[in-house]
Amino acid sequence: MHVDVRPASDAAPEADVIAIPVGPDGIPTSARSLDGVTRVAEEEGLAERAAETAVLYPDGPARRIVLVGLGPADELDADTVRTAAAAVAEAAERVGGTLAWVLDDSFPHAEQARAVVDGVLLGTYDPGRWKSEAKDDAPFERLVLVGGEDDLVEGTARAATIAEAANRARDLSNTGANELTPERLAEHAGELASKHEHLSAEALGPEEFTKLGMGAFAGVAQGSHNPARMIVMRYEPPEPRGDVVLGLVGKAVTFDTGGISIKKALYMEDMKGDMSGGGAVIEGIGVLAQLGVPQRTLAVVGATENAVGGGAFRPGDILTAMNGKTIEITNTDAEGRLVLADALHHARTLGATHIVDFATLTGAMNSAMGDVYAGVMGNDDEWRDLIVAAGEESGDHAWAWPMHRRYRGLIDSAFADMKNSSVRGQAGPIYAASFLEEFVGEGPWAHVDVAGTAFFTWGRNDYLSQKGGTGYGVRLIAELATKLSA
Ligand code: BES
Ligand code: MN
Ligand code: ZN
Repeated sequence: MHVDVRPASDAAPEADVIAIPVGPDGIPTSARSLDGVTRVAEEEGLAERAAETAVLYPDGPARRIVLVGLGPADELDADTVRTAAAAVAEAAERVGGTLAWVLDDSFPHAEQARAVVDGVLLGTYDPGRWKSEAKDDAPFERLVLVGGEDDLVEGTARAATIAEAANRARDLSNTGANELTPERLAEHAGELASKHEHLSAEALGPEEFTKLGMGAFAGVAQGSHNPARMIVMRYEPPEPRGDVVLGLVGKAVTFDTGGISIKKALYMEDMKGDMSGGGAVIEGIGVLAQLGVPQRTLAVVGATENAVGGGAFRPGDILTAMNGKTIEITNTDAEGRLVLADALHHARTLGATHIVDFATLTGAMNSAMGDVYAGVMGNDDEWRDLIVAAGEESGDHAWAWPMHRRYRGLIDSAFADMKNSSVRGQAGPIYAASFLEEFVGEGPWAHVDVAGTAFFTWGRNDYLSQKGGTGYGVRLIAELATKLSA
């Protein structure tokens, strides 16, 4: 989506759709001369009703004018603006073309403009790509910020690039596992890399990762007819800032049946989204290269299916991970931590100084935090808090969770260095993080459990109203790398 600004003036902006937010101070001054808007906003009580819209069909200057409430001043934040912008975009989706948003002075313009972009692009995402009558273009080609300063353009255009990458990650999540195999995901990473000069991608197949000793990853992978891939991407900006090598690690289980410890049938189809962490990492490093963020970055994504079959790994098996530690399998459905064990170690070996992983790891995280916040754990409070801050600033909400060495006792095994699950059902997300910590080596690491936020069984009551992939993580990664390299 192309972004422009226009100074505020009494002349109406040229656009197909003019969006007018109704904030705590009413309608923005420059829009008050438009016929009927003040009266309709009052009649509809829009000032108090966040994200409620009223559509006007004027003779000119646009094909539609959409009024949208911003709600009470104390609830006016970026999420409110995202949701309001999504409501406008949805109301005028069939018009499309150029959308002019009249900036409201009660909310900072730069932040408002970025939130509008998120709302319009993420809010009009269509998960129905596989319907025979599906349209594949986003409805709005151009956004004009009315009453904006020229320096708004850069940050807003950046936000659009990031939101478009998040929507590509949603496409990956929503693609069925028959189409999005590990090989296909690796190919996608390669295609992305070929578009950007300083980005490269390679993928290790079963022979190669087995030879490297990735026994935990290989154990999960062995049950599927679709061969697994350990995907490695590198972004080497020409003039990197600082010494940090950011390591992004992702779980990309293209379908999680649970394996021999098989899952229940209800909603099992959503387990095509169990690759969402890896999808966000791939699109995340891609958008860093696209934007030219001066942050050296490495991505390691473990892509495999967790299948049932005669070749599948089983409870009681003992696997040896790449770092030499042994794992007793007590539940084949706790496969994500096995994939990550080798991916994390690999990322450290390849030179990542600061690691953050994204994974749909535990149903318990979904139960605890639902679809709003991801939980973040790690071995370094400062690094963890930086991830949380990047999340909050980007719209990918993240909440710090504790770790403690005493949780380590949960994973003790009678036979091996550790077991991959416990029947005690306590502290599931922290158990998983304690397990991961065994493989992260020296240096800061944080783990983002996105089980509730990356793929929705039911749409959310805001700008992410669609079922399926949300692109969670792409905005966080862009914000984090930007902060790190500032
Ligand atoms: N992919 C699932 C976690 C998940 C569940 C993500 C629901 C999104 C929605 C993961 O592989 C899994 O099955 N975890 C198990 C672990 C348990 C066996 C220790 C779980 O959470 O039940
Ligand atoms: Mn599982
Ligand atoms: Zn899984």
